[in-house]
Amino acid sequence: QDNDATVGMDCAFDAEYGLKILRHDGLAWGWPTSRALVEKVKTFPLDASDVMVTAFPKSGTNWVQIMLANLYDDWGTCAITPHRRVPQLEYEAPGMEGYAESLRAKSPRLMKCHLPADRMPSAWQNNRAKVIYMTRNPKDVCVSFRYQLQVPNLEFDDDWDFWVERFTNGKTIYGAWLDHVLGWKRYGEKDGVLHITYEETRKDQIGIMRRVIEFLGRPVDEARFQEVMNKSSFENMKESGYGDQINIGGPESNRSRFLRKGKVADWKNWFTVAQNELFDERITRKLEAAGIHLDYEG
Ligand code: A3P
Repeated sequence: QDNDATVGMDCAFDAEYGLKILRHDGLAWGWPTSRALVEKVKTFPLDASDVMVTAFPKSGTNWVQIMLANLYDDWGTCAITPHRRVPQLEYEAPGMEGYAESLRAKSPRLMKCHLPADRMPSAWQNNRAKVIYMTRNPKDVCVSFRYQLQVPNLEFDDDWDFWVERFTNGKTIYGAWLDHVLGWKRYGEKDGVLHITYEETRKDQIGIMRRVIEFLGRPVDEARFQEVMNKSSFENMKESGYGDQINIGGPESNRSRFLRKGKVADWKNWFTVAQNELFDERITRKLEAAGIHLDYEG
């Protein structure tokens, strides 16, 4: 896709974001999106039986989607995509046609997206298709995201201090991290949204996934459950090839970008005292004030 000049034509380097993006409809969207795609997502015919794994980028989205894809046989989307890959609704590029694959599949469809709650397909307002929303502590997200963006196509300005500035100022694709999390927090289980966190899942993968299964109301054979849990530990996903189901590119680049360290509190290796204070002032304290307490220590 890198050689196709038409891919991502609506996107351009934006100095404020230090990244190639598209500004459309009041939000920054990541390369290689297009205005047409952003518009199409709004009218996507989401079915009440569909399930969406949702998170701000780098919160563990792939981990959850891979576990779910492998727990069940009856997802329409996994049957039609290579490696049972879970399509990303708002992504479309040659070889990774997330929107078209989602559209083509039969419900129940398992999909992923990084959309803020107010950007979900409008059908969701009425049918409340089930959503699993994963939150990860924003300091680790900030570190993981920087690593993710370091690919040539994105023209990412990699200066670490500038990146912390941009992240804490909400100059990120899909909007500000804080807005994303607070926007989704408005919805709970009565609205069909289950909230889980990366840190809890890291501590108790089995317990959290049992909760997810119960929420979905789709019982799983115990032997299958144990097998999937075992294969989807960080170490096994990285080494065994289970991680091949992750997103674009060859297996090696997938594994290194989407399975980097898989740790809680790696941020401590990166943040200066001043950056940490800035982060607390702009994000963490506001989050605490909103009653959202995340694990920053591991
Ligand atoms: P790090 O970059 O901190 O390692 P996303 O899927 O939303 O892009 O999130 C990617 C992050 O989830 C990466 O964080 C990745 O290592 C982590 N991750 C993926 N699979 C995991 C697993 N099985 N266990 C723990 N962390 C996992």
